[in-house]
Amino acid sequence: MKKTLLALAVAALLSGSAFGQSNRTHVLSSDNSSLVVTTNDGAAAYYQYFGPKIQDKDIAGFFGINSNYTGNTIPAFGLHSYGEKALAVKFPDGNMSLDLAMESLNRHSDDKGELLELTFRDKVYPLVVKQYFRSYKDTDVFSTWMELTNTGKKGSIELLTFASACMPVTRADNWLTQFHGAWGSESWMSEERLPNGQAVLADKAGLRNAFGTNPGFMISIDGQPSENKGEVFGGNLLWSGNYKTKINVDNNSIDVISGINEETSEIALKPGQTFVTPEFAMTYSTEGKGGVSRAFHKWGRKYGMAHGDRLHDILLNSWEGVYMNVNQEVMDQMMGDIAALGGELFVMDDGWFGDKYPRDTDKSSLGDWMVNTRKLPEGIKGLTEAAKKHGIKFGIWIEPEMANTTSELFEKHPDWVLSQGNRPLSQGRGGTQVVLDLCNPAVQDYVFSITDNLLTENPEIAYIKWDCNADIMNYGSPYLPKDEQSEIYVRYHQGLQKVLDRIRAKYPDVAIQLCASGGGRADYGLLPWFDEFWTSDNTDAYQRLFIQWGDSHFYPAVAQASHVSASPNHQTGRVVPIKFRFDVAMSGRLGMEIQPKNMTPEELEFSKRAIAAYKDIRPVVQLGNQYRLISPYDKGAVAALMYVDDNKDHAAVFAYRTDYLHNQQVPKIRLDGVDPDKYYLIRDLTPANPERPSNLDGKIVSGRILRNAGLNVSRSLGRPWTSLALELKAVNP
Ligand code: DGJ
Repeated sequence: MKKTLLALAVAALLSGSAFGQSNRTHVLSSDNSSLVVTTNDGAAAYYQYFGPKIQDKDIAGFFGINSNYTGNTIPAFGLHSYGEKALAVKFPDGNMSLDLAMESLNRHSDDKGELLELTFRDKVYPLVVKQYFRSYKDTDVFSTWMELTNTGKKGSIELLTFASACMPVTRADNWLTQFHGAWGSESWMSEERLPNGQAVLADKAGLRNAFGTNPGFMISIDGQPSENKGEVFGGNLLWSGNYKTKINVDNNSIDVISGINEETSEIALKPGQTFVTPEFAMTYSTEGKGGVSRAFHKWGRKYGMAHGDRLHDILLNSWEGVYMNVNQEVMDQMMGDIAALGGELFVMDDGWFGDKYPRDTDKSSLGDWMVNTRKLPEGIKGLTEAAKKHGIKFGIWIEPEMANTTSELFEKHPDWVLSQGNRPLSQGRGGTQVVLDLCNPAVQDYVFSITDNLLTENPEIAYIKWDCNADIMNYGSPYLPKDEQSEIYVRYHQGLQKVLDRIRAKYPDVAIQLCASGGGRADYGLLPWFDEFWTSDNTDAYQRLFIQWGDSHFYPAVAQASHVSASPNHQTGRVVPIKFRFDVAMSGRLGMEIQPKNMTPEELEFSKRAIAAYKDIRPVVQLGNQYRLISPYDKGAVAALMYVDDNKDHAAVFAYRTDYLHNQQVPKIRLDGVDPDKYYLIRDLTPANPERPSNLDGKIVSGRILRNAGLNVSRSLGRPWTSLALELKAVNP
């Protein structure tokens, strides 16, 4: 890409004019990082730096020497034909060129941090582009996005490319870490050196963008990715629909162009209309991938999800326990059992609704959100009463964006589903599932009313599991006019966001889980309205190690629902002990997904102890800082991770035997998260036999030893499917 050479020349000129004129050099800083942009009235703006924190006074020595990091903040199509573009439009007269000149800038602070707003106007045509840069207070995350306004009086401006960001990343020995997957196998991590050319991370499914490639990715700057060393750029588009991130790699430069996937999504901007792109969030770490993850976790809890500062309840979900065979009696029994184990919440999953078409299989009933009185004669009230009797909270499953063609809803409103009118409907799950047309305000009202009715009629409901088991198959909106049909992928999500805004305005406190056939929506596009996501329908503890490892690169443990299920596992058939299953689930937001009635007395006794122990470390796991210690991908027979509080006084360490060959070396686990100057008392949280805890239990060890020499776990992890969950507390020796 030749852009770099020109940009360098421009930047060299700019550097002279910008230096010394503080109104033209803008340094946005967080605790540890800075983003530097230079502007000139009537011209373009340029990135100068994104990296470890610098002061305003450092700028003087900076210009002119940083020769591999600079770029136009909005590379636009038309005047220069080379290179990747963040913005390309077609004006009503057919002209496809843009010439943006900065007209004004505004910098201010708000409750989220600092905001730099640059306003550009095309020199000839009626397009105003506002570009925003935000530094999020108390985190090391920045973001950028654009707002495009047609200021003309007649004719639409077609948006052909409308990225949120075009960010340069320092070119060196760059490696890409990305996460891709499928149902039951989400967030699989892959790491490769970036060759010259282009890497594209993208999704086109419409609704579940995390099933393909998760929008979160990292670029290591100086060599093979490391957990705790080296500079790493982390980026994530805050959008749950189709997205595209292009990583354009040239000899001397890397540009990350990220935004809504514009393929088959042409937007027509009518006179007076404004289009806002989603935010692209990014961070820059000098502490390897772990630093990127900790920055995103902190940011996620504070800004990127609902109630990220709240401890989550330990729950039992009915799905794998009884599937759709719910009824008053069995729900009551399960509530009693989870209460007896020390759990705090019961969630009734799929199967509770439908009148004319009872939901006994996945072939019918979505859309008919009335209680099936055959299964639940006392209605939801009977269930909330039972929960009260057992001293726990109650939650319920819905899939509000969907219908089955076998439903009263579809019979009444066939025009409420995405469809193509003159073509037969492609139908998804159960052979009858279709997607509602959330572009239509009447459908938005209906989808809002599902949650609203449940919560107004049953204010005791404390938790909702919001599922989504389809992608957009029948591309067509019966509601949108023909010249807006190309906007469905975007308008659907805007409609969904409106519904969620209304739900959150009226029910700010209810906990809502984001589920999409498992982790299909494990992204920050929708998390701002949700408390957590269902990490995967695959509850096999061994495979969960990999899935949770992948998700942990961007999403904090408090957002990752992780449930103990039956053995043999329903998805993989794997048989692993209850301790291993708990030790894996306890490293996230612990829950259970099993019929307790079918558990052995030993399993129940263990579960009770493990739940009590989890309560002791819950604040550290859910709200603490995570250190990934040994990767399951390393094939070193052991995987390990830890969490520690901000003061490094309280920690939880998890270690798992992932492979077994007799008398082979078991790696030492170096605890990167502890304070070298403190001493820690170790406690075995989940001994299989409480009389015989791990040999590490009760030991007091210096943080320096734990960091440098590490824990020797060869005795505790000496056999297949063995694991450890340890609590560390700082003590005076
Ligand atoms: C898919 C979800 O991921 C499962 O947990 C469960 O809720 C089913 N849907 C119910 O149909």
